[in-house]
Amino acid sequence: MKIAVLPGDGIGHEIIAEAVKVLNVLDLSLELETASVGGTAYKEQGHPLPESTLKLAKEADAILFGAVGDFQYDNLERHLRPEQAILGLRKELGLFANLRPAICYEQLTHASSLKPELVAGLDLLIIRELTGDIYFGQPRGRRTATDGHFPGAEEAFDTMRYSRPEIERIAHTAFQAARKRKNKVTSVDKANVLETFQFWRDVVTEVHQQYQDVTLEHMYVDNAAMQLVKAPKNLDVVVTGNMFGDILSDEAAMLTGSIGMLPSASLNARSQGLYEPSHGSAPDIAGQGIANPLATILSAAMMLRYSLNQAEAADRIEQAVQTVLAQGLRTGDIYSEGTTRVGTAQMGDAVVAALQNAR
Ligand code: IPM
Ligand code: MN
Repeated sequence: MKIAVLPGDGIGHEIIAEAVKVLNVLDLSLELETASVGGTAYKEQGHPLPESTLKLAKEADAILFGAVGDFQYDNLERHLRPEQAILGLRKELGLFANLRPAICYEQLTHASSLKPELVAGLDLLIIRELTGDIYFGQPRGRRTATDGHFPGAEEAFDTMRYSRPEIERIAHTAFQAARKRKNKVTSVDKANVLETFQFWRDVVTEVHQQYQDVTLEHMYVDNAAMQLVKAPKNLDVVVTGNMFGDILSDEAAMLTGSIGMLPSASLNARSQGLYEPSHGSAPDIAGQGIANPLATILSAAMMLRYSLNQAEAADRIEQAVQTVLAQGLRTGDIYSEGTTRVGTAQMGDAVVAALQNAR
């Protein structure tokens, strides 16, 4: 099993190093190959997603991704910015299904900005369509307006669009995920305003005919944003488009108090996947050895489960993470009085030790 390891920028290298440590003690015959991506790749090779990196990613069974982005690249032309690396990988590999769990760990209930009773035991799964919508819709660009409120003015435009097969396949992903959970799907749209999302609602409803055992509810995105902070435990599987999913998944992540804990998976039709923490490259704390590696370690667990058919090893990693939390070890982002503050490497070492002791 071949894994492309793409650390990227900022804290990427530090957190990936810990996930690699964890993978290495599992005795699975994994072949890890590292390549550069993002701003780092731009600096070294003039492009955020070099041909050689893309080739490695395409050939691998799975990709373990750190994070990309840094303020220093903000003024580059769009196609050279670090974010293009992740967008390019999603597009080139057809990674249409983005799974973003938001789990509130028992020991971290008090780290949430919401009242503990609202989030205790929270375990929701956001399924974000990842290769369509306004993110990729053509045409897009700048031009001179010929109509609208200010004809003759400079304007910019993007295109929101979804095709039937794109909606069908993500709906199948959601209903199938629901069958392994609580048999409930909330489809989030803006059908009251947008044609694209009226179509989304219609197609999701049609696909639902094949999953009569699953309850389907539809919710407008503004209401979903509200429900997430009002009563998040009423939601279980949430399926939505690319842009709404981007926004709602950040909101959901914060409910758990710690974006530093949340993994994600982006899958294509062949179960090839890219696995990355839900957080970004945090350039402000890069190089200090204080970033939380647990989201990346948990992403490695998702990788074992979804792309490498090693569910048991995935369980062991998740158990080991619970163990270190129970031991009271905390990186700065999840630190609270009475717990023990540790750095990135210490946290990784503790997970390794927990795995070894569990044998
Ligand atoms: C995410 C990020 C990306 C997105 C950016 C970096 C392009 O915010 O993975 O959620 O908007 O999809
Ligand atoms: Mn985002």
